[in-house]
Amino acid sequence: MVDENRRNTLKIFLGTTAALGAGMLATPLVASVIGSKAGYIKPEPSGAIPVEICKDVDSCPKDYGVSLDELRNGPVFKLLKVNTMAIPAVFGIVRAKDGKEYPVAYVAICTHFGCPVNVSGGKYLIGFNCPCHGSIFAICNDPNGCPDYNAAFLEMYVSGGPAPRSLRAIKVAVKDGVVYPLVAYI
Ligand code: FES
Repeated sequence: MVDENRRNTLKIFLGTTAALGAGMLATPLVASVIGSKAGYIKPEPSGAIPVEICKDVDSCPKDYGVSLDELRNGPVFKLLKVNTMAIPAVFGIVRAKDGKEYPVAYVAICTHFGCPVNVSGGKYLIGFNCPCHGSIFAICNDPNGCPDYNAAFLEMYVSGGPAPRSLRAIKVAVKDGVVYPLVAYI
């Protein structure tokens, strides 16, 4: 069940996320090519381990969901418990060049050594930064501009620092104006 719900500018704590320990953090995550143009990652990235949070939106606990109205005020943190695992998740809205908005969610753990990451940006989610060794994650690292996103499952690229791969993504679905987490790719 959800224990916490914090706003974007707050530091994200991992106090109860011991289950996401070193072994899990060392596993391959997303098949991203760091430095490539912004784009989409496959729904089931090669090398990633899918962890089902909810089978579908109808069976998802209500308190796992975040309303789009709430997300329009800024990213939202939730601690999701899946069996013995605690997944710190940040939900947000990405705004594409054409003005369209897409809900997204990420596992808020740095892919370097597993520190909790902080959200960058304001109303719209644009990235994360890690206080431990300075890694920076960004929704778009294309100097020519982000593409016209058409998926709610977008890659959070490494745009600086030692992190070896993109931030872990969480596949989401929307029903009745509420965004639910379905699968975390860890
Ligand atoms: S743990 Fe995040 S940069 Fe090292």
